[in-house]
Amino acid sequence: MDFEESERLKSLPPYLFAEIDKVIKKKRTEGFDVINLGIGDPDIPTPPEIIDVLCREANKPENHRYPSSYGLKFFKEAVARFYYKRFNVDINPDKEVIPLMGSKEGISSIAYTYINPGDYVIITDPSYLVYRIGAIFAGGKPYTLPLKEKENFLFDVDKIDREIAEKAKILYFNYPNNPTSATCDTDFFNKIALFAEKNNIIICHDNAYSDTYSNGNKPESFLNAYNSKNVGIELNSLSKTFNMTGWRIGYAVGNREIIESIGKYKTNVDSGVFNAIQYAAAKALDIYDKYSNGINKVYDSRRRMVKKMFEDAGIDYYNSNATIYVWARVPEGYSSGSFSRMLLEKANVVITPGNEFGEYGEGYFRVSLTISDSRLEEALKRVRNIL
Ligand SMILES: Cc1ncc(COP(=O)(O)O)c(C=O)c1O
Repeated sequence: MDFEESERLKSLPPYLFAEIDKVIKKKRTEGFDVINLGIGDPDIPTPPEIIDVLCREANKPENHRYPSSYGLKFFKEAVARFYYKRFNVDINPDKEVIPLMGSKEGISSIAYTYINPGDYVIITDPSYLVYRIGAIFAGGKPYTLPLKEKENFLFDVDKIDREIAEKAKILYFNYPNNPTSATCDTDFFNKIALFAEKNNIIICHDNAYSDTYSNGNKPESFLNAYNSKNVGIELNSLSKTFNMTGWRIGYAVGNREIIESIGKYKTNVDSGVFNAIQYAAAKALDIYDKYSNGINKVYDSRRRMVKKMFEDAGIDYYNSNATIYVWARVPEGYSSGSFSRMLLEKANVVITPGNEFGEYGEGYFRVSLTISDSRLEEALKRVRNIL
């Protein structure tokens, strides 16, 4: 039989990390000891108190039934407490929060909720791949804003083509930024909120790395911006902050109309997040202070190891202390692709080529800090030896 995939699916490039995984598997079956500095998937276990709540709640029969797509009040109240404690932002837990199966799901849900075929969707380049993918899947047309190192990987809404600004439906962006690690401040958020209001664009700020930082430079929330709740939402996630990538839980907070509409979409395509996971996630948010420093210390020490090796090897990197990545320039004579292939070939080390995040990522590569210190040390040693 001939099962032809939809044009929508066929129009997408292969999902980067699935492709990298295939290469790693192949090399490993050939007997090579491959070290993966590609994906940002925390190696540190989820804190035990959070797991205890999951086990307790998983044992309760009332949690075995369909959850609501709109989420448990208990979880939403914990999100509101967290946003107040962490960002000084007031959130109405009944109207301004919805749980998600990770922020990745939220990116695509909001696209399906709002985009009509042909609508423009503004994204940055480079960026987390799913903004583009979500936009294309929903039939939208991505319009990209370049992020340049000389501008600290920030973008300027004044440079957006007027016609595009008037027609665009959603602007997705993300600081602390994946892949560049760049950060922004409330003035930057304010300018975007103003732009959105003027042009009637929905803002979807993805704050997945709000709590992976060091040196006291606490990232802010888009909801700290003036008028932000009128123009958009923020996605956040338990994945990176609490080492919970496998649990699949995140949430959207902000504009109540948008939250309501995402809920309307979700009731039609999923049945919400397992209640036991929502209870455990509520616990995580409530004890946030207890673990976050310790986790960030681990990343900080790994970040220093990477930066030191890059300095020794003469590799230029973007000097940030946020996210769980280091973004660096490939050495002279290489492209992003040829450098990553060379490292895989000669050192059995996987990094992410910058061009995979968009054309303005060309000339860069990304190293993830989510691997044990000893394996990271070994990887850095191998790379240093061949440079
Ligand atoms: C910017 C950004 N947003 C969202 C995600 C996905 O997060 P989640 O696990 O909550 O779906 C990632 C994962 O790498 C990311 O880098």
